[in-house]
Amino acid sequence: MGVVELKGIAKHFGDVRAVDGIDLKIEEGEFLVILGPSGCGKTTLMRMIAGLEIPTDGEIKIGGREVTDFPPRLRGIAMVFQSYALYPHLSVFDNIAFPLRSRRGKDKLNKSEIINKVTHTASLLEIQDYLKRRPRQLSGGQRQRVAIARAMVTQPQVLLLDEPLSNLDAKLRASARDELKDFQREFNITTIFVTHDQIEAMGLGDRIVVMSSGRIQQVGTPIEIYKEPSNTFVARFLGSPSMNIVERDDFHYGFRPESFLPKEVIDDVAVHDFEYHVKRVEYLGADRLIYGYLAGHDESTLTLAKLPNNVRVHIEPHQQYIFTVPATDIKYFDPRTGERIHEKSL
Ligand SMILES: Nc1ncnc2c1ncn2[C@@H]1O[C@H](COP(=O)(O)OP(=O)(O)OP(=O)(O)O)[C@@H](O)[C@H]1O
Ligand SMILES: [Mg+2]
Repeated sequence: MGVVELKGIAKHFGDVRAVDGIDLKIEEGEFLVILGPSGCGKTTLMRMIAGLEIPTDGEIKIGGREVTDFPPRLRGIAMVFQSYALYPHLSVFDNIAFPLRSRRGKDKLNKSEIINKVTHTASLLEIQDYLKRRPRQLSGGQRQRVAIARAMVTQPQVLLLDEPLSNLDAKLRASARDELKDFQREFNITTIFVTHDQIEAMGLGDRIVVMSSGRIQQVGTPIEIYKEPSNTFVARFLGSPSMNIVERDDFHYGFRPESFLPKEVIDDVAVHDFEYHVKRVEYLGADRLIYGYLAGHDESTLTLAKLPNNVRVHIEPHQQYIFTVPATDIKYFDPRTGERIHEKSL
């Protein structure tokens, strides 16, 4: 039903290659996250899946049917936009009923069918008590749920969400995220969710697609993307602070700040030791963040270490220490292309 297949999808606006050749299959019931920096083509890709934009090239299939030239209403999808605009002058009920009332011809619903569908969807999203309110009388999270209810009421095969949580504050965002995930699991609805927030992507996605400049950089589970980045773009884009990348003429290599620890706390057998000059130590509550540079490297090329609070080793600025990285946590990259390469000896 809800399988989405993209073959060679591209969208060019004049010289701008907003989306530049995407091949992707989204499985039935999957929660797929599209992650990438601003302007990388996420919204354009979603608009093509929704039918709001016609691709310059390529083919889109939904539920096994080719829909590339179909208008939005024939695709069985629903989309919640980056700025999900609810109608401010309409009640919550009327907002949710809106897409049902706009149906014409044989799809037209009578009044009691509309009431049933709206109340059913509202109760799934636990907003049944607010049906008479206007959007401005709701919290951000509740408005969010109304926007999702309005999308869900048409029983789409596929739900497209374009940064729907972006105008919520951090706490509401976390709870809205949990709700969304529970809801998606319960109804097993194929969902494509766009964000530029890596934490959101890691927490929500069954798989993550990392995009940059209109192209896919990597597709994988959150763990795969984080642990086995396929190039330096992905390595740098995920993780906070991001992966340390050390540049040599023959190859580049990288390791994450949390893999870079004082020698005495690591008991792995295969490790690499580094002489580490500490410049500055920051206390961040749960972690200590250490800024320094590796011996033999430029002082201005910072290498960071992130030490959880249970690592109690004393670290002072302007001192030198031996820090260690387990060998399996070091990733190697081609210096020209940035692509992952096999292991080298350091
Ligand atoms: N209608 C248009 N005409 C010309 N250029 C466009 C049009 N729509 C988008 N673009 C360009 O295409 C590129 C991708 O835009 P898009 O909105 O898909 O990015 P995005 O990944 O959704 O970014 P954000 O995270 O900021 O929402 C951008 O460079 C944008 O300026
Ligand atoms: Mg966008």
